[in-house]
Amino acid sequence: MYDLHAHILPAVDDGARTMEETLAMTVVAAEQGTEMLLATPHRKDVTEQSSVAHIQSLVREVNAWLGERDYDMTMVLGMENHLDLDLPAEIEAGRALPMNGTEYILVEMPFFGRPNWVEEVLFQIQLQGLKPVLAHPERIEAFQRDPDMLAMFVDRGILTQVTAGSPVGHFGRRVERITRDMLDRNLVHILASDTHNPSGPRSPKLRRGVEAVAKIVGHEAAERMVTDTPKSILEGKTVEVEPSREPSSSGSWWRFW
Ligand SMILES: [Fe+2]
Repeated sequence: MYDLHAHILPAVDDGARTMEETLAMTVVAAEQGTEMLLATPHRKDVTEQSSVAHIQSLVREVNAWLGERDYDMTMVLGMENHLDLDLPAEIEAGRALPMNGTEYILVEMPFFGRPNWVEEVLFQIQLQGLKPVLAHPERIEAFQRDPDMLAMFVDRGILTQVTAGSPVGHFGRRVERITRDMLDRNLVHILASDTHNPSGPRSPKLRRGVEAVAKIVGHEAAERMVTDTPKSILEGKTVEVEPSREPSSSGSWWRFW
């Protein structure tokens, strides 16, 4: 499997606190079958309290440790980039990293509210030649309230990453239901751990999420979300995206608002 979202680097953001914790998370990921894991520290934490050079050296350190052992796993580097008005300039300056040096970039919308510049900044990033991947839209208020906005983004070539804990209920019944409806509408392309800890609901384990997603979209499509699609992204290859679907009559989550 390929995991595109992980707060696994030590003492950089709200994820792993020490290198011991980082290595423990790495072992959990490797032992459950993750072959490649993208470390995605929060951009602002790196800019304000660390540096790109420092996180690059941490990734080298982890890979050296893995290389000395028998784990068939590699760590690569990206970031979780908060979407704000500065993001295009921060990309230009090399302080907002794409995924493993490809044209794909993990972007996180504000959790609450819906600033009026969202579309403009997203499309500006596309004009810079990058392909945004939206982090956990099922947990973002703007998409919970307006799923059609997410469908519009997907139909304009934007990819989405659902967090493995969402379809199994780790973020509550409402997020679980919204995730199901997004899957029904063909609005989900990638499943990733968004891990913060070695164990518990935010561990690097993806399998439970894959099983829950398989019940909704079938085994093959669920597997693709942790294999072919994230692999293509990390290799900088094109990902074919099917158009969004209209909501089915049973899956209209706006009824809950
Ligand atoms: Fe995250």
